Amino acid sequence: MEIREARRVKNLPPYLFAQIDRLIEEKKKQGVDVISLGIGDPVEPSPSIVLKALKEALKNPENHRYPSYFGLSEFRETAAKWMKKRFGVDLHPDKEILPVIGSKEGIAHLPWAMVDPGDYVLVPDPGYPVYATATILSEGIPYLMPLKWENHFLADFEAVPSGVVKKSKLMFLNYPNNPTSATADLDYFKNVIEWARKNGIVVAHDNAYSEITFNDYIAPSILQIEGALEVAVEFHSLSKTLNMTGWRIGFVAGNEKVLNALGRLKTNIDSGIFNPIQYAGIAGLRNYEETVARMRRIYENRKKLITDFLDKVGLKYWKSGATIYIWVVVPEKETSSSFARKLLEEAAVVVSPGAAYGNSGEGYVRISLTVKDERLKEAIVRLERVLQ
Ligand SMILES: Cc1ncc(COP(=O)(O)O)c(C=O)c1O
Repeated sequence: MEIREARRVKNLPPYLFAQIDRLIEEKKKQGVDVISLGIGDPVEPSPSIVLKALKEALKNPENHRYPSYFGLSEFRETAAKWMKKRFGVDLHPDKEILPVIGSKEGIAHLPWAMVDPGDYVLVPDPGYPVYATATILSEGIPYLMPLKWENHFLADFEAVPSGVVKKSKLMFLNYPNNPTSATADLDYFKNVIEWARKNGIVVAHDNAYSEITFNDYIAPSILQIEGALEVAVEFHSLSKTLNMTGWRIGFVAGNEKVLNALGRLKTNIDSGIFNPIQYAGIAGLRNYEETVARMRRIYENRKKLITDFLDKVGLKYWKSGATIYIWVVVPEKETSSSFARKLLEEAAVVVSPGAAYGNSGEGYVRISLTVKDERLKEAIVRLERVLQ
């Protein structure tokens, strides 16, 4: 019998990191010591207070059972308190906070909850690939908003043709941004909210990197804007904030109706987050400052190593005060993938080709800071040999 997969799966572009992983595997099989600056996944352990809370929670058999669909009320309350403390935003823990199994899960399901076949979804290009693929899976149509250097990589939603705006239900935004590392200020978010309210479009702001910021820069929440709760939701992730990528925990905050729709959808798909992980997340959020301060120092140091090197070899990059990424302009006559391939072949260093995040990512590669300092230094030595 011929097994035929569904068209919606067949039409999906391969997930970027799955491809990179395969390439690395191939190289490793050949005995090559590959250093990956491709994936944003912290190498430092999760905070000990998180591990301790998990161990404690595991002892209670009640926690081994199905979790509540909408998360522990204690987790929702802690998330609401964190939003208040961090951004000064008041949220109702039962109505305006919804735990998700990592923000990827929430982002991937949001279009299913909001979009009917043929509806448009405004998506940043380049962008975290899930915005567009989740739109395609829910039979919506992604409309790509190019992020350009000259616009500080801010999506120009006002340039979206009015015919598309009329058919749009949802817009994804993400600042501090992956992959460009660009940031947005409250004035920008104010315009977003005004425009979205005028045009009846739900804004889903992905704030996964809100805590990875440097020097004096503090990333805002879109929910700080007056009236934002009428049209916006914001995804938060414990992954990068607390070095908890493997735990799969985050939350979405904001408009009650959107959260209700997403929550209703999710009750039919998943059964919530394992309670001990929620207790671990609670401990992490309550004590986030120490971890965040430590990680900022680590990333800042690594960032300096890389940017000093880029300056030295004359490669241009976006100067940003946030994220674990550096967005680098590829040398003339290279494409993002030819340059990434060259670095892998000649230096055994993996960087992400910008075009993998969308057509407007062509001409760039993304370097991630989530490797140990010693490996980063080694990568720089190798890259310097190739690029001198
Ligand atoms: C912009 C952005 N949003 C969301 C995620 C997913 O994070 P989580 O681990 O919470 O699913 C990532 C992960 O790299 C990301 O870069």
